[in-house]
Amino acid sequence: MTAQRLRSIAPFHVMALLARARELEADGRSIVHMEIGEPDFTTPAPVVAAGIAALQSGHTHYTPALGLPALREAIAADYRSRFGVDIAPGRIVVTPGASGALQLLTALLVDPGSRVLMTDPGYPCNRNFVHLLDGEPAAIAVSAAQGYQLDAATLRAHWTDNCVAALIASPSNPTGTVLPRAAMAALLDAVREHGGHLIVDEIYQNLCYDQKPYTALEFGDDVFVINSFSKYFGMTGWRLGWLVAPQAFIAPLDILAQNLFLAAPTPAQHAALAAFQPDTLAILEQRRDEFRLRRDYLLPALQALGFVIRRAPEGAFYLYADCSCFSDDSFRFAHDLLETAGVAITPGIDFGSNAAETHVRFAYTTSLEQLQLGVQRLAEFLQH
Ligand SMILES: Cc1ncc(COP(=O)(O)O)c(C=O)c1O
Repeated sequence: MTAQRLRSIAPFHVMALLARARELEADGRSIVHMEIGEPDFTTPAPVVAAGIAALQSGHTHYTPALGLPALREAIAADYRSRFGVDIAPGRIVVTPGASGALQLLTALLVDPGSRVLMTDPGYPCNRNFVHLLDGEPAAIAVSAAQGYQLDAATLRAHWTDNCVAALIASPSNPTGTVLPRAAMAALLDAVREHGGHLIVDEIYQNLCYDQKPYTALEFGDDVFVINSFSKYFGMTGWRLGWLVAPQAFIAPLDILAQNLFLAAPTPAQHAALAAFQPDTLAILEQRRDEFRLRRDYLLPALQALGFVIRRAPEGAFYLYADCSCFSDDSFRFAHDLLETAGVAITPGIDFGSNAAETHVRFAYTTSLEQLQLGVQRLAEFLQH
């Protein structure tokens, strides 16, 4: 018998679609992948070289649970140079991906019965991390008019005595929308009024296309911020991320990290030291420009096909589209599109239950040529 809480933990439907897509490919079918939430680019060469050098130099033992001191300093220096904020390296915890950071923070803040406010649609694992601790994820339906983000008024309307935190992502997955700076400051104020905590997942921070990115750390030392080497840095498989916490929480986070995973992977931490070098950053900025080109192609192309995208994404690499003029069953739609046309996308039901049956997510994590092929196949599929 498995534990009861597993009943509240849903699988990713997109995984079944991905498995089917791989089966079709093994049978010789060509598939356009617009379901995958990771960059198609491989890790930049200077980072790979630093990883190889680390392995060859014998950097294969545990690091301190909070992370390699040099990496914590490099992350702090990046906050200073990119955003002009001074973060003591001692407030940075290096984790196995943003996933590790999310697990640490929920373990830190959630008691059985504690509520954590989050958005619907939103990143699906968040509610499961809260479930794992027997807390109550409160997924608040957010609309396109709200930029699919949690604002201060909505937070106040949903805050209850057992709420301990609000967890948002900006830019968001699956909508790519950014919470404007003033709205972030107001949200933090509203959380403070209630004596709660604000957790901001900034994993897509440097994949912003229309404006200069900012960090919620600009608004105070009491906010918890999560980030990762996965997306912008192209290091998904290295499993490396970080969090920034108020100083008072570092000692308990150290204890949790020691117990939950001892430390983040050592070769990955050494490799990441090269992630902030000018030659790496030049590669990453080029890649961001490529993502912007893809978005600028795909957004109007999908709209021309009849998908309704009420909020143009400003960041990440996703487009969240209303497909109700074609189907009111997003899983069936994604399934049929894959089987008939060889195009893989993610059904809205993976991101919550707010109009999830009438939405799908397109990821532009494949080349422009593949996106063009995907749009051509979609056009043919929708004509039938
Ligand atoms: C919003 C968000 N947070 C966290 C993660 C986890 O990323 P990782 O553990 O690879 O850093 C993802 C991955 O897709 C994500 O979209």
